[in-house]
Amino acid sequence: MAPDLTTDSFTAPGAAPAVRDSALLRAARGEPVPHTPVWFMRQAGRSLPEYRRLREGVAMLESCMRPDLVVEITLQPVRRYGVDAAIFFSDIVLPLKAVGVDLDIVPGVGPVVARPVRTLADVAAIPDLTPEHVGFVTESVRMLVRELGATPLIGFAGAPFTVASYLVEGGPSKEHARTKAMMYGEPELWDALMRKIAGISAAYLAVQVEAGASAVQLFDSWAGATSPRDYRRYVMPYSAQVLEAAGGLGVPRIHFGVGTGELLGLMGEAGADVVGVDWRVPLADGVRRVGARAVQGNLDPSLVFAPTDVMLARATEVVEAGRAARGHIFNLGHGVLPSTDPDRLARLTDHVHSL
Ligand code: CP3
Repeated sequence: MAPDLTTDSFTAPGAAPAVRDSALLRAARGEPVPHTPVWFMRQAGRSLPEYRRLREGVAMLESCMRPDLVVEITLQPVRRYGVDAAIFFSDIVLPLKAVGVDLDIVPGVGPVVARPVRTLADVAAIPDLTPEHVGFVTESVRMLVRELGATPLIGFAGAPFTVASYLVEGGPSKEHARTKAMMYGEPELWDALMRKIAGISAAYLAVQVEAGASAVQLFDSWAGATSPRDYRRYVMPYSAQVLEAAGGLGVPRIHFGVGTGELLGLMGEAGADVVGVDWRVPLADGVRRVGARAVQGNLDPSLVFAPTDVMLARATEVVEAGRAARGHIFNLGHGVLPSTDPDRLARLTDHVHSL
């Protein structure tokens, strides 16, 4: 595979009628769909044997910077499952790495930052992201949209709170205590950090859409650690900044977090077209909380380990609850668990399409 990347042969899928008319984009816009569209967060990754083979001896962040690997890994689940969207293979910390922040993704741990952010000088030392920092992303996305044809490519970025947590804690955290200490105690520093990340995330989404991604997802995975009051004051304005910038790109915006039952309304108000709902909230309640927006979700990722009849019955319930929404994109309530049997996701995809 050696796609021709000259600009005259490149057609942005946002402009391609088949992509614009796909079930995913129709659902995101609240238009009638031929079937409920389905994709899975973390559909590319450790649950796939073909992914594990390809990644042998290649570090996670290195694989994100090699267009040949990014293209192949992104396509693997699309080929296997016939899902209604591809999600760009990368990570929420990749743009930080690209601008020069010293960090790594440690296997079995997650992102680890060498020198956590503690001062205004630390924030000022993080460069803003320009397209030149991520030329490999532009190249990968262009190759991908050519390969994908009528299947939309979802670009993504981390939302400011979730990315800030890694930068401030220095690694994964359950309580986000240092992050919240900065949020409550050092408002000027918090504002500077959150604005810095919002700018990087917005620029990173713009690169992906300009290269051909036809929808974006803003992952605020850990926003559920905040109360509605604190979310509104300390988190939402910065996510809104990213979503507003993405709105100018003319593609649907999906906004997702974990444990966000109390925040769903606000996450919609932040500027989302589609609000992702985790599995802790009955989807019917999620639909009411997001009002006149589309929803995405929300089968418990552990249901793939249940007997087939139980898994499929629960999936049917999710699809039926989704019919009350302005639009519904079927997904799990969080990422695919690494020990998931891919045949179960194939079965699930076919089932949702058959309903
Ligand atoms: O298929 C897809 O969804 C696209 C790829 C993708 C990855 N990370 C690849 C990855 C996406 C969308 C992400 C986003 C991401 N990264 C989030 C938000 C989504 C979520 O799950 O809430 C977060 C919080 C991160 C940070 C991060 N990176 C974590 C928590 C981990 C897992 C650590 C572990 O080993 O358990 C990573 C590493 C990572 N990102 C892997 C993959 C496939 C696993 C690393 C590997 O395969 O070696």
